[in-house]
Amino acid sequence: SDFFSKKSALKGKKIMVTAGPTYEAIDPVRFIGNHSTGKMGYALAEEAANQGAEVTLISGPTHLTIEHANVKLVRVKSGEQMYEACSIANEASDINIMAAAVADYTPKTVADQKIKKKGSEMTVELVKTTDIAKSLGAIKRENQLNIGFALETEAEIEHAQQKIKSKNFDLIVLNSLNDKGAGFGHDTNKVTIIDNQNNIQHFELKSKREVAKDIINAIVQKLEA
Ligand code: CTP
Ligand code: CA
Repeated sequence: SDFFSKKSALKGKKIMVTAGPTYEAIDPVRFIGNHSTGKMGYALAEEAANQGAEVTLISGPTHLTIEHANVKLVRVKSGEQMYEACSIANEASDINIMAAAVADYTPKTVADQKIKKKGSEMTVELVKTTDIAKSLGAIKRENQLNIGFALETEAEIEHAQQKIKSKNFDLIVLNSLNDKGAGFGHDTNKVTIIDNQNNIQHFELKSKREVAKDIINAIVQKLEA
């Protein structure tokens, strides 16, 4: 019966996953972006869907695609568009997994014509974006679970635990930068999963597909706790 209960734990659950980078426009032909590939978010969407969840995948610009009966793919460009799509999906979702690398700052104004080259220096003024995870954390419902990601270069565990508090996460997945093959642009990840009761689980370097299974397992454990 363990076998069946494990397989059906996510059946009918509505899961929102964010993935990829965001592109913040400077003018009609330029943007500020980052190197996120979206692979982790897409792998999570696929694994959750395979386990019977109804997934809404909200993706920034990536080269990836996904075709699965249980996955609705919503493509966005900017952090603001991602926030709008997440706000809508959040109304029905049981679980929010925020794997996107959302830009922290966006140009204060977007030039409506291509900016011409002028002097030897130029400045683009930036303003903070909406923190999607923090906004959803502030309105989290009693039976909702929110899961975040973090990549830190110092005081990793401490910084991750601060993010659990400030964003009201139930779990945070800390991506380790220390090992070869982990992080942006690779097919493997080494993660540590920390929960809101300070339980810490370390995992080995694995394919993103296998990491997705570990993360989904941790979510199922949290659901059943
Ligand atoms: N996040 C988000 N919206 C933002 C910024 C971050 O939803 N505007 C989410 C990410 O998807 C991730 C979590 O918040 O799940 C942590 O992102 P991170 O960049 O590590 O945290 P920040 O609060 O932006 O802090 P900093 O970049 O200064 O470390
Ligand atoms: Ca950030």
